Amino acid sequence: MSARRARLGVLVSGGGSNLQALLDATAQPDYPAEVACVLSNVPTAFALERARKAGVRAEVVDHKGFGSKADFEAAVLGVLADAGVEWVCLAGFMRLVSADFLKRFPGRVLNIHPSLLPAFPGLHAQKQALERGVKVAGCTVHYVDAGTDTGPIIAQAAVPVLPDDDEASLSARILAEEHRLYPLAVRLAVTGAVTLDGSRTKVDARVTGDAGALRSPGAPK
Ligand code: GRF
Repeated sequence: MSARRARLGVLVSGGGSNLQALLDATAQPDYPAEVACVLSNVPTAFALERARKAGVRAEVVDHKGFGSKADFEAAVLGVLADAGVEWVCLAGFMRLVSADFLKRFPGRVLNIHPSLLPAFPGLHAQKQALERGVKVAGCTVHYVDAGTDTGPIIAQAAVPVLPDDDEASLSARILAEEHRLYPLAVRLAVTGAVTLDGSRTKVDARVTGDAGALRSPGAPK
């Protein structure tokens, strides 16, 4: 594909399996985005290895080295600017981003969360789901706003909660859907097929194939 590809900055703190899904997607020549930079606040995050292996710039900005959140974010923003990042994808990034940070990438910061939002925002979403006894769980890709997991929803996928599930088994089932959903949602966002519409999003009717894929498997057509 000759069209210019959107430049993603992927922010991570841990294992980076969602980063891997994005790296795999962006390795396809017809995918409309590339990973320009991976940035971790945790120096030992395995996600950094994944980036290096893929030949992608990997940077550490350790929040512990900064006296304030503003200073930490200024350093993060400096790296992202240097790498020419246009869109920010949070992928297991365990720091909340501030309203000032979001102003630098208006409508261009995405996150993946392991629940069917607005249920179970915040930490340990899968555990919260099990404790509440829901029968269907899942994951959500959303635009990031100043709240915690409250931004406009782009795409969701559902999985069943089985009677013998524990946190690990449910998390693994959800994670498999995350890896499918995040590259799809990023593609829709960077191509303009999904746009912000107040507190909701609008899917371009011309991408009905993708709109279908935004529903969970087994959902009515
Ligand atoms: C995923 O469950 C994601 O939804 C959540 O943090 C986890 C990150 O996993 N925000 P990984 O580092 O991508 O493997």
